[in-house]
Amino acid sequence: MTEVLDSRGIDAWRAAERGTVALVPTMGALHDGHRRLIARAHEMADAVAVSIFVNPLQFGPGEDFERYPRDLEADRAICRADGVDAIFAPELHEMYPREPEVTVSAGRMGAVFEGAARPGHFDGVLTVVAKLFQRVQPDVAVFGQKDVQQLALVERLVADLDLGVRIESVPIVRDDDGLALSSRNRYLSTTEREIALLLPRALDAARAEPTAQQAQDAARRTLTDAEHRHPEFSLDYATLVERATFTECPPDFRGEAVLVLAARVGATRLIDNATLAFV
Ligand code: PAF
Repeated sequence: MTEVLDSRGIDAWRAAERGTVALVPTMGALHDGHRRLIARAHEMADAVAVSIFVNPLQFGPGEDFERYPRDLEADRAICRADGVDAIFAPELHEMYPREPEVTVSAGRMGAVFEGAARPGHFDGVLTVVAKLFQRVQPDVAVFGQKDVQQLALVERLVADLDLGVRIESVPIVRDDDGLALSSRNRYLSTTEREIALLLPRALDAARAEPTAQQAQDAARRTLTDAEHRHPEFSLDYATLVERATFTECPPDFRGEAVLVLAARVGATRLIDNATLAFV
């Protein structure tokens, strides 16, 4: 039986849990990408908790906090089917009984790429992740590689603040057409979804290139062509970065790097990425 627990409930559940615990932090609207995280969590620990909380701190003014999809019953059915032991679904006032005065700063790494487009976003993410870790006290937490900057920052959070939680990650899950799964894909119209496929196509174009410079150029070419052809498409960035620091790779870079992409399709902001190796 998968119980939906508030803060007191999760405290009691955690205190009674004798084995190792894995946490899958989510904002709900669970899809197959989350289910992979849950499956990995089961491999990593004796018990699995999923947190469901749409965190206002990580949404900027004018972003989709109000209309972010919320369906606790559907999420609960998925968690139940996937053998989740506890769902931590706190109310807003439990997480933030008052406006927090002290929050986590994501630093330079949190101010570039997604952080530049969404000022304060990663401060909000790291603040809520720290609070969730404090509450659930997991041994391991599982995140998706689709939000690769978030993942890198959570790793730094744990390292820099000595949080003692192992961070595990799971590769991007894609639909049959190649689009990376995201709770926000449901905002896309049929036409917008077709256009959104240019993101995985740009990653494919980059994969075919032998050098860092050529790979980045190929992705940018695909996406700037798209901007000319589709007025509803606008590219934010397509850049090769070093995974641990999110600094841009030099043109002659050798080794493993992440090509990060972000674009707006209609009103929806989409991100994608691929890890590429250059010898
Ligand atoms: O990736 C998400 O769903 C959110 O950013 C997270 C990690 C649950 C924090 O609210």
